[in-house]
Amino acid sequence: MKGLFITFEGPDGAGKTTQVYLVDRYLKEKGYSTLITREPGGTKIGEEIRNLLLSCAHSEMDALTEMYLYAAARAQHVKQLIKPALREGKIVLCDRFVDSSIAYQGFGRGLGMDVVESVNRYALQEVEPDLTLFFNIDIEEALNRGRARNGSLDRLEREKLEFHRRVYQGFCLLRDKYPCRIKEIDASKDIDDVFKQIMELIEYLLCCKK
Ligand code: TMP
Repeated sequence: MKGLFITFEGPDGAGKTTQVYLVDRYLKEKGYSTLITREPGGTKIGEEIRNLLLSCAHSEMDALTEMYLYAAARAQHVKQLIKPALREGKIVLCDRFVDSSIAYQGFGRGLGMDVVESVNRYALQEVEPDLTLFFNIDIEEALNRGRARNGSLDRLEREKLEFHRRVYQGFCLLRDKYPCRIKEIDASKDIDDVFKQIMELIEYLLCCKK
């Protein structure tokens, strides 16, 4: 693949989305061709699955159903958007990807890493991020930030603190398991500082790619 695939991961409220847009603007100004996208979502089908997943009307949703729905949205996303963009040589900036499934469904819901990884193997279609930025932040601080920003909470954000703690532990475990791909960002810092940390990593990657 000619392009670069960069994913942004971390707990709810860590400030990923703001940074995805800042990075996108910066790279475009430098003349790079980029694609900004998110999970669940990115495609029409994916956005419909997103509504289903995040709606508080579905509090009875089983953990397995949830895992398969995230993976289904991902399969469509990879096929329809991510692979073609990488083939065209674009830098794809994706707000969450498969690590979120491992952290939320594998650890948060307790399905386990192996189950979630094996189901997602098909959805990924051999696509793997070149770089994953893990926004590390105290979980309570992140949740409070998120709650202050959005008025209403979605089905996942409404989960208990214990659930979010398990998700956080999942992200830390992934960071330790894949140190070459997953780089930690200190997301407790202000917006400019976080942006600087991210751009150092991306500039390095762009240099290596030349
Ligand atoms: P967002 O609000 O960051 O866009 O993400 C939507 C929610 O979905 C967030 O709470 C994390 C959760 N999520 C999963 O549980 N599994 C996944 O695979 C993905 C991509 C997101």
